[in-house]
Amino acid sequence: MNPKQIAAEKAVEYIQDNMIVGLGTGSTAYWAIQSIGARVKAGLRIRAIATSVESQNLAQELGIPLVSFTEIDEIDVTIDGADEADMNLQLIKGGGGALLREKIVAAASRKLIIVVDESKLVQQLGRFDLPVEVVPFGCEMTLRKLDRLGSTVHFRTANGERFLTDNGNYIADCSFGRIDDPGQLQHHLNNIPGVVDHGLFLNMADLVIAGYSDGNVKEFD
Ligand code: A5P
Repeated sequence: MNPKQIAAEKAVEYIQDNMIVGLGTGSTAYWAIQSIGARVKAGLRIRAIATSVESQNLAQELGIPLVSFTEIDEIDVTIDGADEADMNLQLIKGGGGALLREKIVAAASRKLIIVVDESKLVQQLGRFDLPVEVVPFGCEMTLRKLDRLGSTVHFRTANGERFLTDNGNYIADCSFGRIDDPGQLQHHLNNIPGVVDHGLFLNMADLVIAGYSDGNVKEFD
Protein backbone atom coordinates (compact mmCIF):
# COMPACT_ATOMS: atom_id res chain seq x y z
CA MET A 1 0.00 0.00 0.00
CA ASN A 2 1.32 3.46 -0.69
CA PRO A 3 2.21 5.69 2.30
CA LYS A 4 -0.46 8.26 1.47
CA GLN A 5 -3.14 5.56 1.47
CA ILE A 6 -1.82 4.11 4.75
CA ALA A 7 -2.06 7.51 6.49
CA ALA A 8 -5.47 8.27 4.99
CA GLU A 9 -7.01 4.95 6.03
CA LYS A 10 -5.70 5.38 9.58
CA ALA A 11 -7.33 8.81 9.77
CA VAL A 12 -10.67 7.49 8.57
CA GLU A 13 -10.78 5.27 11.69
CA TYR A 14 -11.58 8.47 13.64
CA ILE A 15 -14.89 8.88 11.80
CA GLN A 16 -18.01 7.66 13.56
CA ASP A 17 -21.72 7.50 12.79
CA ASN A 18 -23.61 10.81 12.66
CA MET A 19 -20.50 12.96 12.27
CA ILE A 20 -20.16 15.92 9.94
CA VAL A 21 -16.91 15.31 8.08
CA GLY A 22 -14.70 17.77 6.17
CA LEU A 23 -13.20 16.33 3.00
CA GLY A 24 -9.75 17.63 2.05
CA THR A 25 -8.20 18.04 -1.38
CA GLY A 26 -5.21 16.45 -3.07
CA SER A 27 -3.71 13.04 -3.71
CA THR A 28 -3.63 12.01 -0.01
CA ALA A 29 -7.11 13.30 0.81
CA TYR A 30 -8.22 11.33 -2.26
CA TRP A 31 -7.48 8.09 -0.40
CA ALA A 32 -9.38 9.30 2.65
CA ILE A 33 -12.43 10.10 0.51
CA GLN A 34 -12.19 6.67 -1.15
CA SER A 35 -12.05 4.99 2.24
CA ILE A 36 -14.96 7.09 3.59
CA GLY A 37 -16.93 6.15 0.46
CA ALA A 38 -16.32 2.46 1.13
CA ARG A 39 -17.45 2.85 4.74
CA VAL A 40 -20.59 4.75 3.69
CA LYS A 41 -21.38 1.96 1.26
CA ALA A 42 -21.01 -0.47 4.17
CA GLY A 43 -23.51 1.51 6.28
CA LEU A 44 -21.65 4.41 7.93
CA ARG A 45 -24.02 7.35 8.35
CA ILE A 46 -22.26 10.69 7.98
CA ARG A 47 -22.67 13.94 6.09
CA ALA A 48 -19.70 15.65 4.49
CA ILE A 49 -18.56 19.03 3.26
CA ALA A 50 -15.89 19.29 0.57
CA THR A 51 -12.96 21.71 0.26
CA SER A 52 -12.93 21.78 -3.55
CA VAL A 53 -15.06 21.06 -6.58
CA GLU A 54 -12.75 18.10 -7.28
CA SER A 55 -13.36 16.51 -3.87
CA GLN A 56 -17.06 17.30 -4.07
CA ASN A 57 -17.31 15.49 -7.42
CA LEU A 58 -15.43 12.48 -6.03
CA ALA A 59 -17.69 12.36 -2.95
CA GLN A 60 -20.78 12.50 -5.15
CA GLU A 61 -19.46 9.66 -7.33
CA LEU A 62 -18.91 7.56 -4.21
CA GLY A 63 -22.37 8.28 -2.78
CA ILE A 64 -21.15 10.27 0.24
CA PRO A 65 -24.02 12.56 1.37
CA LEU A 66 -22.97 16.23 1.18
CA VAL A 67 -24.08 19.26 3.18
CA SER A 68 -23.34 22.97 2.92
CA PHE A 69 -22.68 25.63 5.55
CA THR A 70 -26.34 26.69 5.34
CA GLU A 71 -27.25 23.42 7.05
CA ILE A 72 -24.45 23.04 9.60
CA ASP A 73 -22.64 25.14 12.14
CA GLU A 74 -19.68 22.96 13.01
CA ILE A 75 -17.68 20.11 11.48
CA ASP A 76 -16.75 17.20 13.74
CA VAL A 77 -13.61 16.08 11.95
CA THR A 78 -11.78 17.10 8.79
CA ILE A 79 -9.17 14.97 7.05
CA ASP A 80 -6.88 16.86 4.70
CA GLY A 81 -3.38 16.66 3.26
CA ALA A 82 -0.47 19.10 3.53
CA ASP A 83 2.62 20.06 1.61
CA GLU A 84 4.73 20.41 4.77
CA ALA A 85 4.17 19.68 8.44
CA ASP A 86 6.66 20.51 11.17
CA MET A 87 6.93 18.89 14.59
CA ASN A 88 4.71 21.61 16.12
CA LEU A 89 1.96 20.64 13.65
CA GLN A 90 2.38 23.89 11.73
CA LEU A 91 1.61 23.45 8.06
CA ILE A 92 2.06 24.69 4.54
CA LYS A 93 -0.92 23.81 2.36
CA GLY A 94 -2.30 24.88 -0.98
CA GLY A 95 -0.16 22.91 -3.42
CA GLY A 96 -3.41 21.89 -5.08
CA GLY A 97 -4.74 25.44 -5.03
CA ALA A 98 -7.62 24.74 -2.62
CA LEU A 99 -6.19 26.55 0.40
CA LEU A 100 -9.01 29.08 0.93
CA ARG A 101 -11.82 26.52 1.16
CA GLU A 102 -9.50 24.24 3.10
CA LYS A 103 -8.86 26.96 5.66
CA ILE A 104 -12.55 27.85 5.99
CA VAL A 105 -13.38 24.18 6.56
CA ALA A 106 -10.41 23.67 8.93
CA ALA A 107 -11.42 26.70 10.99
CA ALA A 108 -14.94 25.28 11.36
CA SER A 109 -13.66 21.86 12.46
CA ARG A 110 -13.47 20.57 16.02
CA LYS A 111 -10.68 18.22 14.95
CA LEU A 112 -8.33 18.66 11.99
CA ILE A 113 -6.43 15.53 11.01
CA ILE A 114 -3.61 15.99 8.50
CA VAL A 115 -2.53 13.00 6.44
CA VAL A 116 0.87 12.96 4.76
CA ASP A 117 3.60 10.66 3.60
CA GLU A 118 6.95 10.88 5.35
CA SER A 119 8.39 13.24 2.71
CA LYS A 120 6.15 16.06 4.01
CA LEU A 121 7.58 16.03 7.55
CA VAL A 122 10.08 18.87 8.00
CA GLN A 123 12.14 20.44 10.77
CA GLN A 124 11.26 23.90 9.59
CA LEU A 125 8.69 25.22 7.11
CA GLY A 126 9.74 26.83 3.84
CA ARG A 127 11.22 24.27 1.49
CA PHE A 128 7.87 24.16 -0.31
CA ASP A 129 6.89 27.46 -1.99
CA LEU A 130 4.11 29.11 -0.01
CA PRO A 131 0.90 29.38 -2.04
CA VAL A 132 -0.91 32.70 -1.65
CA GLU A 133 -4.39 33.24 -3.13
CA VAL A 134 -4.78 36.73 -4.62
CA VAL A 135 -7.73 38.45 -6.29
CA PRO A 136 -7.20 39.26 -9.99
CA PHE A 137 -7.81 43.00 -9.54
CA GLY A 138 -4.47 44.70 -8.89
CA CYS A 139 -2.69 41.37 -8.77
CA GLU A 140 0.57 42.81 -10.17
CA MET A 141 0.63 45.28 -7.28
CA THR A 142 -0.13 42.49 -4.81
CA LEU A 143 2.69 40.45 -6.31
CA ARG A 144 5.14 43.34 -5.79
CA LYS A 145 4.11 43.56 -2.15
CA LEU A 146 4.71 39.84 -1.72
CA ASP A 147 8.07 40.27 -3.39
CA ARG A 148 8.98 43.03 -0.92
CA LEU A 149 8.34 40.63 1.95
CA GLY A 150 11.48 38.85 0.78
CA SER A 151 10.15 36.14 -1.46
CA THR A 152 10.67 35.19 -5.07
CA VAL A 153 7.15 35.13 -6.47
CA HIS A 154 5.45 33.87 -9.58
CA PHE A 155 1.86 33.31 -10.62
CA ARG A 156 0.97 29.64 -10.89
CA THR A 157 0.06 28.55 -14.40
CA ALA A 158 -1.84 25.59 -15.81
CA ASN A 159 -2.00 24.74 -19.52
CA GLY A 160 -0.23 27.99 -20.37
CA GLU A 161 -2.81 30.15 -18.55
CA ARG A 162 -2.84 31.61 -15.05
CA PHE A 163 -4.19 28.94 -12.71
CA LEU A 164 -7.66 29.85 -11.44
CA THR A 165 -8.86 28.67 -8.05
CA ASP A 166 -12.40 27.38 -7.43
CA ASN A 167 -13.06 30.93 -6.20
CA GLY A 168 -11.91 32.62 -9.42
CA ASN A 169 -8.64 33.90 -7.95
CA TYR A 170 -4.96 33.44 -8.81
CA ILE A 171 -2.26 31.64 -6.84
CA ALA A 172 1.09 33.35 -6.26
CA ASP A 173 3.72 30.77 -5.29
CA CYS A 174 6.20 32.47 -2.96
CA SER A 175 9.64 31.14 -2.25
CA PHE A 176 10.70 32.55 1.13
CA GLY A 177 13.28 29.90 1.84
CA ARG A 178 13.38 28.77 5.47
CA ILE A 179 10.54 30.45 7.38
CA ASP A 180 11.99 31.34 10.78
CA ASP A 181 8.91 33.09 12.15
CA PRO A 182 5.71 31.75 10.53
CA GLY A 183 3.51 33.83 12.88
CA GLN A 184 5.14 37.08 11.79
CA LEU A 185 4.94 36.12 8.12
CA GLN A 186 1.26 35.30 8.54
CA HIS A 187 0.70 38.72 10.09
CA HIS A 188 2.39 40.47 7.14
CA LEU A 189 0.48 38.41 4.57
CA ASN A 190 -2.85 39.06 6.26
CA ASN A 191 -2.18 42.79 5.98
CA ILE A 192 -1.72 42.91 2.20
CA PRO A 193 -4.91 44.05 0.45
CA GLY A 194 -5.55 41.68 -2.44
CA VAL A 195 -4.32 38.64 -0.53
CA VAL A 196 -7.39 36.50 0.09
CA ASP A 197 -5.55 33.89 2.13
CA HIS A 198 -2.34 31.89 2.20
CA GLY A 199 -1.12 28.37 2.81
CA LEU A 200 0.24 28.87 6.33
CA PHE A 201 -2.04 26.84 8.61
CA LEU A 202 -0.77 27.73 12.06
CA ASN A 203 -2.16 26.22 15.25
CA MET A 204 -4.95 24.52 13.32
CA ALA A 205 -3.98 20.84 13.08
CA ASP A 206 -4.82 18.56 16.03
CA LEU A 207 -3.15 15.46 14.66
CA VAL A 208 -0.71 14.64 11.86
CA ILE A 209 -0.74 11.07 10.60
CA ALA A 210 2.28 10.09 8.52
CA GLY A 211 2.53 7.00 6.34
CA TYR A 212 5.95 5.46 5.65
CA SER A 213 7.16 3.48 2.65
CA ASP A 214 7.98 0.51 4.91
CA GLY A 215 4.27 0.25 5.77
CA ASN A 216 4.48 1.99 9.15
CA VAL A 217 2.17 4.76 10.27
CA LYS A 218 2.89 7.33 13.00
CA GLU A 219 0.65 9.83 14.73
CA PHE A 220 1.91 13.21 15.97
CA ASP A 221 -0.19 15.40 18.26
C1 A5P B 1 -4.56 21.35 -1.73
O1 A5P B 1 -4.73 22.70 -2.02
C2 A5P B 1 -3.47 21.18 -0.76
O2 A5P B 1 -3.55 21.93 0.40
C3 A5P B 1 -3.22 19.73 -0.44
O3 A5P B 1 -3.83 19.35 0.73
C4 A5P B 1 -1.75 19.57 -0.34
O4 A5P B 1 -1.20 20.19 -1.47
C5 A5P B 1 -1.33 18.13 -0.25
O5 A5P B 1 -1.57 17.50 -1.46
P1 A5P B 1 -1.10 16.04 -1.72
O6 A5P B 1 -1.73 15.17 -0.70
O7 A5P B 1 -1.56 15.76 -3.14
O8 A5P B 1 0.40 16.04 -1.66
